[in-house]
Amino acid sequence: MAAPEVNPASPPSEAARAILVGVDFSSRAAKQGFDETLDELALLAESAGDSPVARVVARRQAPDAALFVGSGKVDEIKLLVQAHGAHTVLFDQAISPAQQRNLERALGVPVADRTALILEIFARRAQSHEGKLQVELARLQYLATRLVRRWSHLERQSGGIGMRGGPGEAQIELDRRMIEDRIKQVKERLKRVQKQRNTQRRARGRSGVFRVSLVGYTNAGKSTLFNALTKARSYAADQLFATLDTTTRSMYLGEAGASVSLSDTVGFIRDLPHKLVEAFQATLQEAADADLLLHVVDASSPVLDEQMVEVQRVLHEIGAGDLPQLLVYNKLDSLDPDQRPRELIDQLLRSDGAAEPTPRVFVSAITGEGLADLRGLIAAAMLDADASTPLPADPRFDAQLSTHE
Ligand code: GTP
Repeated sequence: MAAPEVNPASPPSEAARAILVGVDFSSRAAKQGFDETLDELALLAESAGDSPVARVVARRQAPDAALFVGSGKVDEIKLLVQAHGAHTVLFDQAISPAQQRNLERALGVPVADRTALILEIFARRAQSHEGKLQVELARLQYLATRLVRRWSHLERQSGGIGMRGGPGEAQIELDRRMIEDRIKQVKERLKRVQKQRNTQRRARGRSGVFRVSLVGYTNAGKSTLFNALTKARSYAADQLFATLDTTTRSMYLGEAGASVSLSDTVGFIRDLPHKLVEAFQATLQEAADADLLLHVVDASSPVLDEQMVEVQRVLHEIGAGDLPQLLVYNKLDSLDPDQRPRELIDQLLRSDGAAEPTPRVFVSAITGEGLADLRGLIAAAMLDADASTPLPADPRFDAQLSTHE
């Protein structure tokens, strides 16, 4: 019997085989964020437990109202689904509920978009009570918008002008109310959890400890760097959003003779759905509360500029755009020798309009190269901040003075 035609990198049987689809709207502003290689979508799919088996890139002026892509492309995708025995088709851009339904009918397999994938990964990763509540809120909000749209679609179909009601409306209205009630409940519970968190955060703020937060595009290496700096073991993986909850540890800086608190936060990503940013406000807020941000950049990424712009955009959105930053260009070890910078420390004028150049340091969280420089820069930033904040009177200082007199 002839072997079935499958991708050579055949996935383990439990992973759903996925066909990846991206559409390049070359004449539109959307092109700016288009990833021709679909590498990020592939990583998102893998992080959600799927196994990409084929990639399709379509080019169009505008999305097709019914199918998002043209009918010829749908036929091509259908052939791929059959050839690979694929279980699902994943779109890099957001598709409407109607497009999703039409595509599922035409292709015969479930269809999902980037937002749904991100939500699924977030749901798998959330560990803490607060993280789980935030994910539930984001999922309910996503569901609510889709239900509302489907509702109006059905209403049009069944009623006609001037006629309300019709099959399905009562059920949908009921679902919608249930979702709204649940959203209210989850928001209440989140408010309570966040109140506790705010109290803890205020206590940390009052303790006078210098707070440093790692921020950056997903997969830049924040958790690996966090581990290297604190020798802790937090989860790092070649998957997107390995970390959803904020972890904070103390890090001793011999250079400053003091400890700082270091927080690892959730990774940022292009097109992070606005509702998700809203749902994860509390987690992201941890970053906004820092005295210094370590903006970790994957120096080996071919799209690092776009990733940095995205991170700066989210930082501005959560009110952290003006906090002091250190740019940490990570993965120095995976740069080709001719790409290696001559100086490991320099300054960079950022594209988000920051007036002053930002200090930048090249490191490898894996080999440890550059970490001593990074610690030195954190210590200097801390001493700088201390110098500009008047310290409370320290009786030991007076005592020391008097012994020397
Ligand atoms: P999210 O949780 O998705 O935000 O990711 P993250 O930024 O915390 O990245 P993480 O530390 O999980 O690392 C992502 C991948 O990059 C892992 O496979 C790491 O092993 C790899 N990585 C991290 N630092 C380095 C480095 O210095 N060099 C190389 N070559 N790989 C690295």
